[in-house]
Amino acid sequence: MKQGTSILVIDDMDVMRNLFMDILTEAGYKVTVASTGKEGIDHAKKNIFDLIITDLKMPDIDGLQIIEAIKRNDPEVMSIIITAYASVKTAQDALRKGIFDYITKPFESKNLLFIVDRAIKSKKLKRANQQLMKNLIDQKVKLQEEVEDLSILYKIKQEISSTLELNTIFEIIVNRAADLVDAEICAILLINPESKELFIQWAHGLNKEYIESTKVPINEGISGWIAVNNKAVIIEDLEKDSRFNKRTHENYYANSFIGVPLILKGEVIGVINTNAKRLKNTFNNHDLGLLSGVAMEAAIAIEHAAQYKDLQNRYLKSIAVLAKALDVKTKWTYNHSKNVSEYAVAIAKKLGLSRKHIEAIKQAGKLHDLGKVIIADEILNKKGKLTEEERNKVREHVQVSAEILKPLGFMEDVSKIIMQHHEYYGGGGYPLGIQKREITIGARIIAVVDAFDAIISERPYRKKASIDEAIKELEKFSGVQFDPKIVRTLIKLIKEKPELFKR
Ligand SMILES: [Fe+2]
Repeated sequence: MKQGTSILVIDDMDVMRNLFMDILTEAGYKVTVASTGKEGIDHAKKNIFDLIITDLKMPDIDGLQIIEAIKRNDPEVMSIIITAYASVKTAQDALRKGIFDYITKPFESKNLLFIVDRAIKSKKLKRANQQLMKNLIDQKVKLQEEVEDLSILYKIKQEISSTLELNTIFEIIVNRAADLVDAEICAILLINPESKELFIQWAHGLNKEYIESTKVPINEGISGWIAVNNKAVIIEDLEKDSRFNKRTHENYYANSFIGVPLILKGEVIGVINTNAKRLKNTFNNHDLGLLSGVAMEAAIAIEHAAQYKDLQNRYLKSIAVLAKALDVKTKWTYNHSKNVSEYAVAIAKKLGLSRKHIEAIKQAGKLHDLGKVIIADEILNKKGKLTEEERNKVREHVQVSAEILKPLGFMEDVSKIIMQHHEYYGGGGYPLGIQKREITIGARIIAVVDAFDAIISERPYRKKASIDEAIKELEKFSGVQFDPKIVRTLIKLIKEKPELFKR
């Protein structure tokens, strides 16, 4: 423990210096001596000592001032003063000024060694304590940072897993990633497996024209490099990196850059890039870690959304099979759903409804009678009047249709239209008996064109009527069963585009 422990002794008396030298060297310390305060201070400037022992009464500089001067360079140094004029007051003053201890002359060697040993041990303990504190603080800071990062990533994960709509997921990812690493630009590029090119699927901070025109061959540019090598990249200055292909990024505002691969089931499906750190700063490894975290969450969300889309498609196919089955059951409805859908879309367009509405109306038209698959063929194809019980059975078809579409989240609007397509404008329809604007516009349209197509088509229980007769019938029930505005719009359409209604 004494090995390598160095002590500076400052005393103007030769005999004292020699005495210290003998005792301390004998005990294994490395000792340096100085005969004046100035000499002592000079030694301390050139070497690091663990302990200073100085005579209090020095001819050139006072012992306390010597220690003060040395401590200015090395605040950690321990110090002991020697005094022949021992008084409690001197000692207390000295200790108050940060002196570790004092020894009175004359002293015994074992007393000196005891005090020196205590001073050295105390210094080591103090240093160990400081290191421990520093480690604790470092760890706490690191832990805090990790917790913060995790909570940010968790929030992003929650946000992107709250939707199964891929484009919404992409939008959240680029916006949050840009915020997270303080980037002006963030882009998700996906690989087109056929053309072997990367294209920008979604971006934050890039204009539409750039997004649409950017196509990067998979073996070119920095994004291509990341995709091929399946490695994250952090670059201080993109302009100076040989992997960066200027030709493909002519308008790209380049400086600091991070790119991470987007990996799905072990395969790279694209790249997430962030570029242009705000305030002209440079991205660091912490940013890289965060972006890699986002890429992992993104991959999971994309996979879930893709699985969901796949499920939806399979379900839609099953519905198409059901619709076909209905056609087989009732030959006379063969074109009915198709006609209803077409007429309804024509009216919706004429009324200037939104694209979303029109799309829902189109689907609802095609699927509005889907629930009739559960109705017995004898009832569906019955030539005579239906009994009360049979009529109730037929009425169930609206709920059954809605029920079939329920698992398809995106079919909510369609489902609502179908549920209400037998409601009457003036009230008294089924299943709810709601009226006027309580009935969704799509359902009011389907109700009119459903009746219209039925009237002008052949049915098991009656002959088909002419378009003029159908119009008369609709006008008769306008305001009662049908929305007058829709009836008027249909009549207008028949006059304007008669070819649409020629069967
Ligand atoms: Fe119906």
